[in-house]
Amino acid sequence: MYKHIFNSVLLAVTAASSFAQNAPTIIPIETRQNVLVLQTDKDNHLEITYFGKKLSQPAEYKLIPSQSRQRDGNAGIYNSAYTPAGTWNVSEPALQLTHGDGNKSLDLVYVSHNMAKENDNVSLTSIVLKDPVYAVEVTLFYKTYFQENVVEQWSVIKSEEKKPVTLQKYASANLYFIAKDYYLTHYNGTWAKEMNPEEEQLTAGIRVLDSKLGTRANLYQPPSFSLSFDKPATETEGKVLLGTLAWSGNFKMEFEVDSYHNLRLIAGINPYSSEYPLASKQEFKTPSFIYTFSENGKGEASRNLHNWARKYRILDGEGTRMTLLNNWEATYFDFNESKLSELFKDGKKLGVDLFLLDDGWFANKYPRNGDGAGLGDWQENVKKLPNGIGYLVKEAQKTGIKFGIWVEPEMVNPKSELYEKHPDWVIKQPQRPEHYMRNQLPLDLSNPEVQDFVYGILDKLFTENPEIAYIKWDCNATTFNPYSAYLEKSKQSQGKLYVDYVKGLYKVLEKLRAKYPKVPMMLCSGGGGRVDYEALKYFTEFWPSDNTDPLERVFMQWEYSYFFPSIAQSAHVTDWGKQPLKFRTDVAMMGRLGYDIVVSHLDEKDLQFSQQAVVNYNAVKDVIFQGDLSRLVDPKKNDYAALMYAAKNKSKAILFSYLVGNRNGDGSDTPIRLEGLDAAKNYKVRELNLYPGTKSAIKEDQVYSGEYLMTAGFNPVVNARRTSVVLEIEAM
Ligand code: GLA
Repeated sequence: MYKHIFNSVLLAVTAASSFAQNAPTIIPIETRQNVLVLQTDKDNHLEITYFGKKLSQPAEYKLIPSQSRQRDGNAGIYNSAYTPAGTWNVSEPALQLTHGDGNKSLDLVYVSHNMAKENDNVSLTSIVLKDPVYAVEVTLFYKTYFQENVVEQWSVIKSEEKKPVTLQKYASANLYFIAKDYYLTHYNGTWAKEMNPEEEQLTAGIRVLDSKLGTRANLYQPPSFSLSFDKPATETEGKVLLGTLAWSGNFKMEFEVDSYHNLRLIAGINPYSSEYPLASKQEFKTPSFIYTFSENGKGEASRNLHNWARKYRILDGEGTRMTLLNNWEATYFDFNESKLSELFKDGKKLGVDLFLLDDGWFANKYPRNGDGAGLGDWQENVKKLPNGIGYLVKEAQKTGIKFGIWVEPEMVNPKSELYEKHPDWVIKQPQRPEHYMRNQLPLDLSNPEVQDFVYGILDKLFTENPEIAYIKWDCNATTFNPYSAYLEKSKQSQGKLYVDYVKGLYKVLEKLRAKYPKVPMMLCSGGGGRVDYEALKYFTEFWPSDNTDPLERVFMQWEYSYFFPSIAQSAHVTDWGKQPLKFRTDVAMMGRLGYDIVVSHLDEKDLQFSQQAVVNYNAVKDVIFQGDLSRLVDPKKNDYAALMYAAKNKSKAILFSYLVGNRNGDGSDTPIRLEGLDAAKNYKVRELNLYPGTKSAIKEDQVYSGEYLMTAGFNPVVNARRTSVVLEIEAM
């Protein structure tokens, strides 16, 4: 196909004829580096005329449409800022609905806009659009985080029609890009195989990323992607957008290369089986689509997101995190009070802050001794824990360690008292056989009674044991047979179930956080089945995968790191994989460090190494959590990986490097250019986490300038004898 050559990637659009008659309204949505320009056409339809690097003279934005290549009947359709269905638009819509009288047509014209500054950094632009015929109004919201170059975008749909309107499709964001070509990196996976990236060049038509799984929505695909313009971006070069939908349920993102070879993006809740009624004067607020754009590659783009997430999104994102010992892989369901007391002592010996009691502590009629029974019955199992949780909290404290606990409050095993008592609380089809994942079913969180029940589980734990210092919140099944007895009984549409489930979950979390604002909480979903920026308002961290093989984690954590900062990634040292303890520990140190091993099985050297590693970690974790991440050597393209975190003040950096290949001679032969240091400062390099009895290959008394390390580079000397290396680079 013939391609125009543009000197700037994300140029302009809109038919020249369309704006000539009226003075158009131009709305630039600006961050420090970028801009999204919206503009009305002669019919007052709102279009996207430019996206990309911002101009120093905003007055020039109005010149952009005259450079457009769109001059036929689709002008002003493809680049609509929020594409309505059923009138002039014949392409994929952002909003599709049926009016109270059954009519399916919608038009949206610009009415007004407003820009409010929340503070020096955060502004909210709202744009009101209205249907000239029907009483339907849409407000588009663009919240900008200026310094971080992040935009959070959502819409609010409101009807004043007498009869209820039915929403068929209600996207969060509708964007439009112009470039020579588009390269989409998306992720696929399943249990213990999360975050496998695939990059593809988008061709004409619509490429869809979606989930219809309900709960555990991200099991096969997360709502996060990266999109490069012109050519695939690297870490340091190229135009790239990182996008993610803040929604813990079904999502749909459509990437449509149109007939001008421009790219339309429509992202939001998945319309699949989710026709949503909207009563008169009611509003529907869509989830947020969050994105950042960089002209300097994926490294800068992901640092934008990290800076934003720590400051504005993740609970306690600018705080710190505790180290912990988890008993899941050490005991599975098989434990009792005395065994746990020994584990508390092990945790103390290791030097971690907290002990995390995992699955298996509850249920009596159908004891939770495996994953086939007991889920839903949140009373301590009297055989395993005759003295209850309170006793364990005290025992742990006596040992000098905090106590945390696992829950899976949204789920039920059919073999449970809860199921016997409240079959109508369970999501299932009344006339069909039940279908399970991990022998369980989700509870119906669209039901306010179920919301109270779920809240009550946590509230009771905290009320009875105010010292509980950590929660792991799990969610292990997807939604089969979607049907709500509650919606049926209250004469509401079944189309609400998928959406109201997620809203119900957020209501519970909101209430919980109002009463318990600080307790750290891990977002887990049979591994990484639920990782998004709406849930992370309530959680301090997430569990990336049950797969803790450190070699796998080098790859997985790398991919998650495009979207989420290290402070939010839990990483545990376990017995998975064939790598030595040092390798396993080094990899887990790139996140919130935990252990899930039998400490008493460690030999003297392993124990000594681990104790020292916890001390080392505590000394540098602030740099890992709050520093600037640079991914230096990609394990997918090389036989080793390297990445580093540099403190914002450039006084210290931590570099991690791992051998991932196993052919003869694999490893780092040449220096790597470091990033994030001060060229004018002098640094010394010291090796951390040396295994007892081994010597470093690094000359620790040598002084290097920042310029040297970032230009000539540094070789961490990773090879078959040194398969993982952690370096501390400290300014003198
Ligand atoms: C899920 C979690 C695990 C563990 C088990 C307990 O699989 O991902 O970490 O908590 O549940 O049953």
